[in-house]
Amino acid sequence: MPTRLFRLSLRFVLPLALVLGLFAYAVVPLVDNLTVRWFVRDLDTKSQALANALQEPLRDYVPEKAERRINQLFERALRDQRLYAIAFCDPAGTVLYKTSTYPQTLGCRLGLDNATGKDSLVNFPQGPLHVSDSRLESEGQHLGKLILVHDMSFIERRSADTRKYVLLLFALMALVISMITVFVAHLSWRDWIASVKSILRGEGDDESGGHAPRLSTSPEIRPLEGELRALLHELNVERQTRDDAAHLWTPEKLRTLLHEELSGDEVLVVSNREPYLHTKTRNGIEVQRPASGLITAVEPVMRACSGTWIAHGSGSADKETVDSNDRVAVPPSNPSYTLRRVWLTKEEEQGYYYGFANEGLWPLCHIAHVRPVFRSSDWEQYEAVNQRFADAVVREARTDDPVVLVQDYHFALLPRMVREQLPKATIITFWHIPWPNSESFGICPWREELLDGLLGSTILGFHTPFHCKNFLETVDRYLETRIEHESGTISFGGKLTQVEDYPISIAWPDGDANLPTVAECRSSVRAEHGMSHDHLLAVGVDRLDYTKGIIERFQAVERMLELHPNLVGRFSMIQIAAPTRSSLDEYQNFEARVKALVQRINNRFGNGNYLPIILKAEHHGSEQVTRYYRAAEVCLVTSLHDGMNLVAKEFIASRYDDRGVLVLSQFTGAARELPEALVVNPYHIEQSADALYRAVTMPEIEQCERMRSMRSLVKDFNIYRWAGRMLLDAARLRQRERVVTKIRSHSRKSLRRVV
Ligand code: F6P
Repeated sequence: MPTRLFRLSLRFVLPLALVLGLFAYAVVPLVDNLTVRWFVRDLDTKSQALANALQEPLRDYVPEKAERRINQLFERALRDQRLYAIAFCDPAGTVLYKTSTYPQTLGCRLGLDNATGKDSLVNFPQGPLHVSDSRLESEGQHLGKLILVHDMSFIERRSADTRKYVLLLFALMALVISMITVFVAHLSWRDWIASVKSILRGEGDDESGGHAPRLSTSPEIRPLEGELRALLHELNVERQTRDDAAHLWTPEKLRTLLHEELSGDEVLVVSNREPYLHTKTRNGIEVQRPASGLITAVEPVMRACSGTWIAHGSGSADKETVDSNDRVAVPPSNPSYTLRRVWLTKEEEQGYYYGFANEGLWPLCHIAHVRPVFRSSDWEQYEAVNQRFADAVVREARTDDPVVLVQDYHFALLPRMVREQLPKATIITFWHIPWPNSESFGICPWREELLDGLLGSTILGFHTPFHCKNFLETVDRYLETRIEHESGTISFGGKLTQVEDYPISIAWPDGDANLPTVAECRSSVRAEHGMSHDHLLAVGVDRLDYTKGIIERFQAVERMLELHPNLVGRFSMIQIAAPTRSSLDEYQNFEARVKALVQRINNRFGNGNYLPIILKAEHHGSEQVTRYYRAAEVCLVTSLHDGMNLVAKEFIASRYDDRGVLVLSQFTGAARELPEALVVNPYHIEQSADALYRAVTMPEIEQCERMRSMRSLVKDFNIYRWAGRMLLDAARLRQRERVVTKIRSHSRKSLRRVV
């Protein structure tokens, strides 16, 4: 340690001493010069005054040649200790009178410049002398000149003194500055090193939701801390992305990741909607797959990972198909994971699902100009149901540190509730809908409670960086937290939540070779609707939801037919609209408006056999939907606001023929990833109409180029990658948590031993 300090000191002191030495070397002559000039000027003035004083008596004595008096006068003047000698010269240049000290060699001219009258410095063996002369006249007659010689050796002495003091001052300064520098540098260096090391080790990060108190970093490094973390984070992401890009994400790869990185840790999914509903029909119990982007995305992940999916059992035959623990193995055809159903009463479903989630949070988070409604009774049900699902998670967990994947806005409070019971759990919450700006979110009377609930998560995922940013700003505004915006981490109550964007996707279809081909779909769908083989077809697939821009889409169809009447009779749009949340007024009104609009447009442009818009307001299975995707020239996705929108990706995945055009709303998360689509503002009816026209008339070669590019993106950035990235992040955080726990218990043991 002392050697290090010595080395450190040398490293600072030597250069500093060198710099100061050089400085002094340049400064000393300057100071010398300046001092001489000051003294010379001083002597000039003094000589002038003395000459004036001597001239008066000399005017009398010189003509009288009163040598004795002149010598007395000179001797008196010499009492001034600095005056060294005096002489008087006649006009011919002969020294007439002089003091004994007057240098012989000086004569009457040496050192004098009569032309300019300037005084001079002359060097003599006894030292430098200052010589000045003044002309003596009496009544216009030139009597001679008086020469005064001052001793300048005191200047040399003073210069030497000044030099000594200047050097001493610089040496002292060098010493003090270097000591201070060394001291400060030493302190900061130790802090910096410690802080940087702790950041690099990820200590105090505690993103895994553990309970490590945050390590305090030195104040000097604090401004850089975020950047360091962000840098590390970027490196991690970059490394992961490189890994990702090198391999196609498949169910096998996800399985391997789960076993290798998470050592087969238990995975639990929680969502409101269940992946399989059992419904009673006339033909007995049937299994249905709900129209839900969430289910489309998460179900393949669960098939790959196994585990337990906890969801609301809402099918009419659900109760009849579960075991005594409310569990059923799914998928029914090839079971690979467990579905655990939670039963809700009508009141609970009304308050929690229809009320708080869909009349409150849904319009709150979507900019679709429908006002959210918040009721205390709904909130109470929302809290109670979140608690029931949280309890179900805890009951289903076989270990104390499961990986819990919480889905969507129905369960904002659940992460905190699970965290309280399973502190070691890794909770990954994914918010499938947009997150609004902080001001909009502030409308919610229970905004703090919702944020607090979500911050029970280890990782909180959104589709886009923009939604992450909105979330961070909302937390910043309504909760007392510490946020690192660069790395997306929130520290709240000693725990960390990592906020990250994970754009959701679909499973790339590999096993659909048994589905009808594009040609078969084209002809069968056209035949079914009485259309000619070259009839142009657009398709829309949505839940009948006001956020989907269905009305705007139909208005665009109408406008296109107005602008291009040659398409009337040659173009139709098939809209598949799965009924949803139909018990809510807003949805009933919306359905009525959609139907009325379809009727008006069909009346305007249709005739007996021809309908410009065919509305199929009923549930369609995925194979039926794929048939329409393949039959159509165009797929229209015109959401007014959408987290991601998986219809866009499903359409792309179904077009193995590299044909078909996607018209895509700029207000979907998908638009960020798919610029090759015809991206539109759905509120701008003419723009959408133009895009639709461009789509139906697009040359095949252009369709092909765009579609190929989109297909390769969706294939690579598939749902296994989405889940894989989140699980990889979780694995990293769990690993870190385990190491930190080990270190802590080790240091506790060592401490006990010492005590
Ligand atoms: O978009 C949000 C979401 O939860 C989706 O994940 C899903 O597609 C849709 O809402 C389903 O809504 P619901 O379950 O209310 O029918």
